Amino acid sequence: TDKYCVIGNPISHSKSPDIHAAFAAATGQDIAYERCLAPLDGFADTVRDLVAQGYRGANVTLPFKLEAAALATRLEARARLAGAVNTLRFEGGEIVGDNTDGPGLVADIVRNAGVPLTGKRVLLLGAGGAARGVILPFLNEKPKAIVIANRTRATADALVAHFADHVAYSGQISACGFADIEGAFDVVVNATSASLSADLPPVPASAFRAGTLALDMMYGKEPTPFMAFAASHGATVRDGLGMLVEQAAEAFLTWRGVRPETSALLARMRAS
Ligand code: ATR
Repeated sequence: TDKYCVIGNPISHSKSPDIHAAFAAATGQDIAYERCLAPLDGFADTVRDLVAQGYRGANVTLPFKLEAAALATRLEARARLAGAVNTLRFEGGEIVGDNTDGPGLVADIVRNAGVPLTGKRVLLLGAGGAARGVILPFLNEKPKAIVIANRTRATADALVAHFADHVAYSGQISACGFADIEGAFDVVVNATSASLSADLPPVPASAFRAGTLALDMMYGKEPTPFMAFAASHGATVRDGLGMLVEQAAEAFLTWRGVRPETSALLARMRAS
């Protein structure tokens, strides 16, 4: 049995062990996956301990995604660009950092929601860690435009400059403040942390039209204020549960070489 876990603080609420147990059963992979609470000042020690115990890898969640990027001895390109790591592989004495959050979001939009991103106008709200992680996977889908709107305009500008420096095909990205958002979008993603405090990011109603896909990276029992606002202006809304399951499937793929089927599990989680 190969051992994996998810490291965070807090961690008791994490659904990842259930998701990976379902993937292991469905693919016949012999793995164990548990929750691991790391002290706020003890992430690196916790990881070294897991390596010493023979663990093969780990997922990383709040608040350790940036520390995980710093700790990794090697970073996959998509993790380096994201500046954050949600998946670690322990192999050959190396701690390899990867980021499957963005690919998970793209898979949820394209496969589960059935909305291709190619040629589309995408509005990304927020310019923090969550937003940064999805930009490269979005670019790889060849959208017509990616507009990054942030409360602090300078952070969005810096993000656009960062991608212009590192990705040759980054010309579709631009930055603005919420007040400068113009026109309607095919896809609007809320990557701000506003939903955590039940706040609505100040996105104008005109960003939505009938058929817009409005996706909040958060999920909970109730629709977030962003989802309620978008729905009231004609958008089709989606929470972050699909992204959660898909980032897990991408992590499972990097560890085990097989990508589990996700739709039955996602339907089961939505029903319960
Ligand atoms: P995360 O890792 O979740 O992205 P973060 O890096 O702290 O967390 O980034 C939080 C993002 O949510 C930022 O883009 C922040 O905007 P600022 O750069 O202006 O701080 C955004 N944000 C947080 N609360 C918000 C709110 N109430 N309305 C709009 N944007 C908000």
